[in-house]
Amino acid sequence: MHFLTSSLLFSLLLLLSPSAVSGFGSMGPISASFGLNSFFCAIDASGKQDVVCWAKNTSSISSPSSSSNSAYFSSIPAMAVLSGGDGFLCGILANTSQPFCWASNGSGTDLVPSVFKSIAYSHIAAGKNHVCAVRGSYYSDHDSGTVDCWEIVSSGNNSLKSVQSSVFYDEYVSNLVFENVVSGEGFSCGGVREGGVVCWGPESGSVGVFNVTDSFKVLASGRGSLCGILEVSGEVRCWGKNDSIPIPPAVIRFVSLSAGANHFCGIREDNHGAECWGRYNFSSVPKSSGFVAIASSDFTTCGIRENDLVLDCWFANASSRPDYDPPLELFSPGLCSPGPCRVDEFAFNASILNEPDLTSLCVRKDLKICSPCGSNCSAGFFLYSPCTENADRVCMACSLCQNSSCREVCGLKSYPEKHWHKLRKLVILIGCSASGFILIIISWCILPHFITTRKEEGTIKQFKSCIGKPELDTDATADSFLPSVATCPGMAQVFRLSELKDATNGFKEFNELGRGSYGFVYKAVLPDGRQVAVKRANAATIIHGNIREFEMELEILCNIRHSNIVNLLGYCLEMGERLLVYEYMPHGTLHDHLHSGLSPLNWSLRLKIAMQAAKGLEYLHKEVIPPVVHRDVKTSNILLDSDWRARIADFGLLTSNDKDLIGDMKSDVYNFGIGLLEILSGRKAFDREYTPPGIVEWALPLIKQGKAAAIIDRNVVLPRNVEPLLKLADIAELTVRENPSERPTMSVVATWLEQIVKDGLIF
Ligand SMILES: *[C@@H]1O[C@H](CO)[C@@H](O)[C@H](O)[C@H]1NC(C)=O
Ligand SMILES: *[C@@H]1O[C@H](CO)[C@@H](O)[C@H](O)[C@H]1NC(C)=O
Ligand SMILES: *[C@@H]1O[C@H](CO)[C@@H](O)[C@H](O)[C@H]1NC(C)=O
Ligand SMILES: *[C@@H]1O[C@H](CO)[C@@H](O)[C@H](O)[C@H]1NC(C)=O
Ligand SMILES: *[C@@H]1O[C@H](CO)[C@@H](O)[C@H](O)[C@H]1NC(C)=O
Ligand SMILES: *[C@@H]1O[C@H](CO)[C@@H](O)[C@H](O)[C@H]1NC(C)=O
Ligand SMILES: *[C@@H]1O[C@H](CO)[C@@H](O)[C@H](O)[C@H]1NC(C)=O
Ligand SMILES: *[C@@H]1O[C@H](CO)[C@@H](O)[C@H](O)[C@H]1NC(C)=O
Ligand SMILES: *[C@@H]1O[C@H](CO)[C@@H](O)[C@H](O)[C@H]1NC(C)=O
Ligand SMILES: *[C@@H]1O[C@H](CO)[C@@H](O)[C@H](O)[C@H]1NC(C)=O
Ligand SMILES: *[C@@H]1O[C@H](CO)[C@@H](O)[C@H](O)[C@H]1NC(C)=O
Repeated sequence: MHFLTSSLLFSLLLLLSPSAVSGFGSMGPISASFGLNSFFCAIDASGKQDVVCWAKNTSSISSPSSSSNSAYFSSIPAMAVLSGGDGFLCGILANTSQPFCWASNGSGTDLVPSVFKSIAYSHIAAGKNHVCAVRGSYYSDHDSGTVDCWEIVSSGNNSLKSVQSSVFYDEYVSNLVFENVVSGEGFSCGGVREGGVVCWGPESGSVGVFNVTDSFKVLASGRGSLCGILEVSGEVRCWGKNDSIPIPPAVIRFVSLSAGANHFCGIREDNHGAECWGRYNFSSVPKSSGFVAIASSDFTTCGIRENDLVLDCWFANASSRPDYDPPLELFSPGLCSPGPCRVDEFAFNASILNEPDLTSLCVRKDLKICSPCGSNCSAGFFLYSPCTENADRVCMACSLCQNSSCREVCGLKSYPEKHWHKLRKLVILIGCSASGFILIIISWCILPHFITTRKEEGTIKQFKSCIGKPELDTDATADSFLPSVATCPGMAQVFRLSELKDATNGFKEFNELGRGSYGFVYKAVLPDGRQVAVKRANAATIIHGNIREFEMELEILCNIRHSNIVNLLGYCLEMGERLLVYEYMPHGTLHDHLHSGLSPLNWSLRLKIAMQAAKGLEYLHKEVIPPVVHRDVKTSNILLDSDWRARIADFGLLTSNDKDLIGDMKSDVYNFGIGLLEILSGRKAFDREYTPPGIVEWALPLIKQGKAAAIIDRNVVLPRNVEPLLKLADIAELTVRENPSERPTMSVVATWLEQIVKDGLIF
């Protein structure tokens, strides 16, 4: 048992960590078997290290919680790591470090030959029909040790059996001490403790790994190829049968690899985005999220997303849907290991999942999940907080950039000091707008100075400033792995997560209507044919708001119902997810019709939309108890339903410490006035093509001088009598008065607009 003593000596030298290593033939928290009966399995985030598997056309073929649907596997024991072979998977048991292999169409019985069953292993790698494993206790240390191999072959009656292997035995190899191992079709390769990579097995020659002396922190093997991440540079090197050597992207540093039949995928070190190479359709790789772990079967890759620990799968050849439909459960972001984490790694903090009973994702509380920190953010995001011992670096959307520290990286120009004050307010408002119900291109569409009282809000608060209240010190009582207690009195429907997942094609990008700091908005088609919009909270929103608070908001939202509001239809609180289901607005936003080339609106429609939007706001201010102040009135939050009726979307809720209710309502009136000026002029609220760029500064002097006709949009045929439009200009002028007390209330505005619509236009 020399590995026990040597481990003490070498633990200091060992830079290898098995965390986040996954793929065909190597091990990780998620892995895939390949071949005809291929399936995926991953370790869940319940804290029990249970294994959840799914196959083609089935969203879940084994689930520890529901024994009824485990038609394939009765019970897979808790696992520390997983590695997939052809039609079977292997893992290391969470409690004893012993190996366990099971077939995709077997009952879940252990296939490991009895001679190896009781040996502890630190690494395991399943290939086409063999398995190699490195001896050592998985949790005591990331051990190095000698390697054992066995074969898993067809038993002739539609099942698999294992045999001790002679073809994978090599006397030279049996004396080497390995730090990791991967397996492909007829070969295995491992990193040797002294440095370098050695391959063995009948097909090892064709992979072409000879005299390799570099050290690799991660290896992954495809059927006939091998790629590794160089310890020093983080770059990828690949080998393979001469016609199929995959060419990895140059320069990019990676932290994790997975291999399919003819392609490899990796997780980038900088922003944790996925990249794939080899025979691959690149357009299928998701761009919207970083990943903590990935695994590939022959043609499909699945990854655990870093922002919500939910799976996303993509198909190598694919244009359409992947053949795998993963279960929507939370999965472990990495492998449990005895700490401490290395430099540039962080320990996953289970408290961000908002599960009161979940303090660790590992069965043993002394273990940690260490993951590499991202070293940079994607374009459009800035580094908000750096990597710490307990948290990954946090990237924030550039729309939330508030000061000089991020302006450069966000590509925002530096402005002279006197403009800075304005810009700051503008940025704050844009930040809030990013949580818009429908994502509008973050354009300069909002006027600088509408709400002066909000400028001291911090960035963190803005994560949720549009959805509500400050943190309440109430205990989160709801277990979000279970459907929540109904908080909506009768009005709203409780949806199942599986139902919404199906309705959005698994929350796929092509179903996306928009995104903001709250999360994503998806278009969904329910089984009864109804089109709806599903707003899905992202991890950041979930982290920064507690479930109780969300339920209180839900209660208020459930009671808001009006023909000029985008009404809530239902919600779903399951497995840590927060989803709100809203009416779908097929005609998009007023902003897009006025400014982004969507069909222009005629004057009758514009007047009606103005009147209906005013009524929606009047309803929020006057009829809802307690009153709701919108806080982000703008044309991109005025949506148009199938009848071209205006509907107010994305209102914030009144917070208990909002003392200046009237003042806040008058801010809504002001912003509505800006919307009126946009409707009237067709120009954007803020547009550098005009002098001055702010619509109020531009329009107000003209209206006051009796030249309101000069601001009227000439791209639409004018009515014979422009009097109603001039009246509209007068109303707008009143609503944007500097002194809030001079602005009319929303009710008054709504009444005036109603009168104009009633009088009609003469063309
Ligand atoms: C999955 O479904 C598709 C069509 O829905 C079918 O063609 C295919 O054979 C199915 N695959 C399996 C493994 O059942
Ligand atoms: C380890 O877990 C397996 C499966 O859960 C169980 O059968 C076995 O008894 C456990 N062993 C120990 C030593 O706890
Ligand atoms: C079929 O498989 C079982 C194990 O699953 C084995 O015991 C039996 O001997 C096999 N039968 C034949 C004919 O190979
Ligand atoms: C089970 O898997 C083996 C090997 O992958 C395959 O040969 C066999 O046809 C499968 N049997 C069934 C019933 O699917
Ligand atoms: C590997 O190195 C040995 C000795 O240094 C040499 O004889 C052999 O040709 C090398 N093999 C390859 C494929 O470069
Ligand atoms: C691939 O390598 C084998 C030997 O390793 C050789 O016989 C064959 O010609 C090579 N094929 C190509 C396309 O280079
Ligand atoms: C995917 O493409 C590869 C070649 O690039 C091909 O061999 C394979 O059959 C394709 N798979 C599917 C499922 O279309
Ligand atoms: C790649 O996928 C895209 C859609 O995801 C599709 O439009 C395109 O045709 C595919 N390309 C190839 C070569 O299959
Ligand atoms: C995890 O996060 C919670 C809340 O943010 C914090 O109180 C706790 O100290 C953190 N745990 C560790 C190990 O850092
Ligand atoms: C970080 O990412 C941004 C945007 O993707 C890029 O412009 C910048 O050069 C990167 N910085 C570093 C240090 O890699
Ligand atoms: C910029 O703002 C962030 C958060 O809003 C803050 O942490 C940071 O210290 C600020 N930097 C400067 C230079 O003011």
